[in-house]
Amino acid sequence: MKKINIGLIGFGNVGTGVVKILRERKSFLSDKTGLQISIKKICDKNLTSRRSVFVDRSLLTRNAEEIINDPQIDIVVELIGGIHPAKGYIIEALKRGKNIVTANKALLAEEGRELFSIARDRQKSIYFEASVGAGIPIIKSLREGLVSNKFYSIFGIVNGTSNFILSQMSENNCTFNDALKEAKLKGFAESDPTLDIEGVDSVHKLIILTYLCFGRLVDLDDVFIEGISRISLADVNYAKELGLEIKLLAIAKKVDDELEVRVHPTLIPKSHLLASVAGVNNAIYVSSDLAGNLLFYGPGAGQMSAASAVVADLVDLTQDIKAGLFRPTLNVVSDKLIKRLRRMDEVESRYYIRFMALDKPGVLAKISGILAKFGISIASVTQKERRKAHVVPIVMIIHEAKEKNLRSALEEIDHLSVIKQKSVAIRIEQL
Ligand SMILES: NC(=O)c1ccc[n+]([C@@H]2O[C@H](COP(=O)([O-])OP(=O)(O)OC[C@H]3O[C@@H](n4cnc5c(N)ncnc54)[C@H](OP(=O)(O)O)[C@@H]3O)[C@@H](O)[C@H]2O)c1
Repeated sequence: MKKINIGLIGFGNVGTGVVKILRERKSFLSDKTGLQISIKKICDKNLTSRRSVFVDRSLLTRNAEEIINDPQIDIVVELIGGIHPAKGYIIEALKRGKNIVTANKALLAEEGRELFSIARDRQKSIYFEASVGAGIPIIKSLREGLVSNKFYSIFGIVNGTSNFILSQMSENNCTFNDALKEAKLKGFAESDPTLDIEGVDSVHKLIILTYLCFGRLVDLDDVFIEGISRISLADVNYAKELGLEIKLLAIAKKVDDELEVRVHPTLIPKSHLLASVAGVNNAIYVSSDLAGNLLFYGPGAGQMSAASAVVADLVDLTQDIKAGLFRPTLNVVSDKLIKRLRRMDEVESRYYIRFMALDKPGVLAKISGILAKFGISIASVTQKERRKAHVVPIVMIIHEAKEKNLRSALEEIDHLSVIKQKSVAIRIEQL
């Protein structure tokens, strides 16, 4: 039986899971694949900390060069995360003729152009199933299962931490801060949760999904990004009364001949499948022309679920190696109908808006007058309380409006003397 040697750089949470699967399912995997995947070397900064799998010390090294320079290693698995030194290790490994498996979404989103180009030049592959949705096989489905499809849109709940917080707010009436505390206690949020709650992690994953669906490797700076840290419990509850559920959505959507790529808190109808995705789960809702609307759902993180995806990549690569195949890193073809990325201020959306205004006659007329001046029409208005001469919430749903117009209108409204707090606007997607 042919043996394929791998070198693992990063023996942390996911790395440990990968070693466990390759150990515990060795014969199961070789029966399925007709190949033996053998771990030749494991590199980590820390060789002494306890891990839930035993490995012989002779396999361990602190020096990644021992893997990168080993001619007997066919595949390098990068599981250290971050940009540096991961990028340098992958480039060196590609140059020495190795194929790569990585789970590193940040690296692919920010440096993918260079890495994929080097891989293509060297006729080597980079596989990255675990980078989005951990064990959910979304990458393989987009690349292979849906290969003949053209895509209309992707709507993804791709950050478990944010989804847990929003679910806690919606289901258990928690404030944002209490929900974040709970997420930390349960191990669902890092001690510094900024990347998750401010949407950066979602943008990384969205860039990868957008590349696969639309053939555009979008720059981080070109993606509109708004996190969930300013979402208040009051808005979650008012929106619920209107039949809407709040989610941090990663959206890539073709509109005419332009592509919208954005991450922000979004209100969606409660009846939509994505609205019921709760807790740390992830879901990616894909609209395609042949296969229709598809939902991919499951845990978006976790040692064994991410390791499951890494091992799936390893099996794919070993099959390629066995067959002497080079499959271009991504079967990506640019959607020629897309002429450009749409700027956020040109995006049109329905909105939920909350004003905090003095409860006195004429206030609504002033607000609606300014909205009308910017061509914005109101679908519904609710005043949440009645306390004469006090500040009360006024909640509006407005019809499709351009972001630029809405921003200008809100700026003017917020200067009215009867408005006592900065207004809140949350985009609504009908899906
Ligand atoms: N955890 C998940 O559920 C999940 C899901 C999908 C994708 N991923 C991705 O998988 C990758 C690994 O995540 P993880 O959760 O396993 O992270 P982790 O537990 O922090 O593991 C990373 C390991 O790499 C080591 N390391 C860091 N820099 C190194 C270097 N220069 N040389 C050698 N070893 C180094 C770390 O050591 P120290 O701890 O001493 O720094 C740690 O043991 C990341 O790209 C992550 O985004 C994770």
